[in-house]
Amino acid sequence: MLPAVETLRDLVASRPVGSPCEVEIGCGNGHFLAAYAADRRDTLLVGIDLKAHRCRRAQEKADKRGFSHVHILQGAAEWLIRDLPPCSVDAFHIYFPDPWPRSRHRKRRFFTMENLEVMAERLRPGGRLHFGTDFFDYYVQAKVLVALHPQLRLSAEPAPEAVLSSIFAQRFVEEEKTIRIFTAVRAAPSDCTGAADGAVPADGAPPADGAASVSG
Ligand SMILES: C[S@@+](CC[C@H](N)C(=O)[O-])C[C@H]1O[C@@H](n2cnc3c(N)ncnc32)[C@H](O)[C@@H]1O
Repeated sequence: MLPAVETLRDLVASRPVGSPCEVEIGCGNGHFLAAYAADRRDTLLVGIDLKAHRCRRAQEKADKRGFSHVHILQGAAEWLIRDLPPCSVDAFHIYFPDPWPRSRHRKRRFFTMENLEVMAERLRPGGRLHFGTDFFDYYVQAKVLVALHPQLRLSAEPAPEAVLSSIFAQRFVEEEKTIRIFTAVRAAPSDCTGAADGAVPADGAPPADGAASVSG
């Protein structure tokens, strides 16, 4: 059982050294994590969402199933992920992020080069980034950014099947929309040497503002 913590950095530091850590960005009501967590009791699974009521539902879903390895944090993912130690994350999951379809709103999309750089730096070598959307142009935008990133490469590895448990995936399957998903993998750089897979000292950097954990 992980101790009660307030920030993402504390949470990651609290897991046993060497145990995996995966982060879902925009976890909504937690359907993906609830399906994914069953076979991954050794993995710290963190869901992040902006909306408090969704975070509550997601945490309740995990708690009801006895998934003490699932923790939901409320806040803006673009800020919270900066609190993660370098080379500490085994996978980022981003499924059906808000597409902001109007051209004047596209700058609000989560998947920007700036956020990709933060995620790439937090991935351990060999760590994965899964991205799925029903919006073709968002898929292309995300894939191009990954292709341009020097430390990431596109991979043929499929996304986890549990992605089809998410509310939005279920809706799009019913509507017979095309869902496009890609996986990217972080190449092995030298700058992870000695990073001790994110098991940072408990008195490491100060917590990021605005991180709130959701319990029950
Ligand atoms: C379209 S929903 C998809 C939810 C879930 N991934 C699914 O597939 O059912 C997008 C989710 O991302 C959340 N979200 C949007 N922007 C966010 C941000 N900057 N940080 C964290 N969550 C965000 C929204 O609150 C919403 O729950």
